[in-house]
Amino acid sequence: PEDQFKNVISHAKEYGFVFQSSEIYDGLSAVYDYGQNGALLKNNIKEYWWRSMVQLHENIVGLDSAIFMHPEVWKASGHVDAFNDPMIDNKDSKKRYRADVLIEDHMEKIRQKADKEVTKAAKRFGESFDEAMFRQTNPRVQKYMGQIEDIRGRFVDALEKNDLEALRNVIVEEGITCPVSGSKNWTEVRQFNLMFATKMGSVAEDANDLYLRPETAQGIFVNFLNVQKTGRMKVPFGIAQIGKAFRNEIVARQFIFRMREFEQMEMQFFVRPGEEMKWYEYWKEHRMKWHQALGFEEGSHRYHDHDKLAHYANAAADIEFNFPFGFKELEGIHSRTDFDLNRHQEFSGKKLQYFDPEINENYVPYVVETSIGLDRMFLAILSKAYEDETLEDGSQRTVLRLPLPLAPVKAAILPLTKKDGLPEMAREIFNKLKFDFQVQYDEKDAIGKRYRRQDAVGTPLCITVDHDSLEDQTVTIRHRDSMQQERVAIDSLEARLRELVSM
Ligand code: GAP
Repeated sequence: PEDQFKNVISHAKEYGFVFQSSEIYDGLSAVYDYGQNGALLKNNIKEYWWRSMVQLHENIVGLDSAIFMHPEVWKASGHVDAFNDPMIDNKDSKKRYRADVLIEDHMEKIRQKADKEVTKAAKRFGESFDEAMFRQTNPRVQKYMGQIEDIRGRFVDALEKNDLEALRNVIVEEGITCPVSGSKNWTEVRQFNLMFATKMGSVAEDANDLYLRPETAQGIFVNFLNVQKTGRMKVPFGIAQIGKAFRNEIVARQFIFRMREFEQMEMQFFVRPGEEMKWYEYWKEHRMKWHQALGFEEGSHRYHDHDKLAHYANAAADIEFNFPFGFKELEGIHSRTDFDLNRHQEFSGKKLQYFDPEINENYVPYVVETSIGLDRMFLAILSKAYEDETLEDGSQRTVLRLPLPLAPVKAAILPLTKKDGLPEMAREIFNKLKFDFQVQYDEKDAIGKRYRRQDAVGTPLCITVDHDSLEDQTVTIRHRDSMQQERVAIDSLEARLRELVSM
């Protein structure tokens, strides 16, 4: 999987999907640009999400709110006070780490040691791993498990109480070393706010401190009444938005998994108080189905229910995806209660209530949100699609098995040779299809080489114009995954494409 991930990253660059930001200046850490194919794939993911949310749900509408917001917004939302990561520096290597990540990695290492013991025992007694784990008679395994439980207890307690000293104690007492220098010489743990600050206005003294939004959700909350009134929306209803968010992540790693500038696709669903759990369950299930509908294999996703909840939530779950580096959060579904709207009422002094004509009551709605990182979805799709395939004749090809509706280029139009009027005929087909589909014309190199190029960017269909085409007005469609070919009339190309690659 590690190698697979490296291959995906270099493939993403080589084929114009993802570049490092400002690469000619040696890059900017945890910031990325999307290339010619990446931009198309990203747009298709957005469209796929937007259609499923806004177009297919009568009671969900869209919004495009500004990145800059009034500074009070972030006080009301709790981000100024509470959007922090606990950081610790190693005095010898001068490297900074997230304290909680150091501890979690440490627990993972102990777990791996325990797994090794269990595997050994299983072999010795001819048992399965689960059976051996169940017996757990091995004192070494018991010691490891006890150690993990103990660390977890102290760790969760420290996080819950926001006790930075206790957090540091876990690191020091466990003898956790700096991954770079191996040193145990740690500083205090400090809170580090993740919001980027900037200034608005030209005169320094009068300039207002602003933040780049760390989530798109707040733009939805402050527009709740605008949309409800102008759209004559009735609870339950949702507002969906796609947009950039910014977080000064300390530990930025794993390519586009954790970025400092990224994009979110969020939807806040406003419901009657008391009905939030019903909707929470609904959206949990609905969002999982959305992921599965893209054709990922069984077991690619799982739920992770949170025991430790953010200050605004009364229930929360992640949909995790099996990335090349393991199961990690892809999307969050949160029951946010009336926390945000209440706080904005309090801080703005404006009423954010809804009159419910069915029960004749005024109330502040409760909110269930679905929040997915667009870039993470991109990475999930790209890493699952990538395959180095050995064909029956022993030759190799790299193919991106992207879901057809998401593929950057839907079809490539290829004249078999550069003469005899084939290019002209291929261009004519290209010029007709381009109004409805993202298509590409390519006449350079041998046909086999051109197929491979299209495989590598995930183009589902190659349409080849040959000498027979001149006679009978038919072309060959070659399918990316099966490499099977079919002969179709040029007149029916458009309908065939629509059937195969539309959303
Ligand atoms: N409004 C709720 C919210 O922002 P979150 O769990 O902090 O919740 C939601 O973020 C999603 O945004 C995550 O599940 C993840 O997919 C994405 N995300 C968060 N931080 C990210 C980062 N630094 N880089 C890329 N994606 C990120």
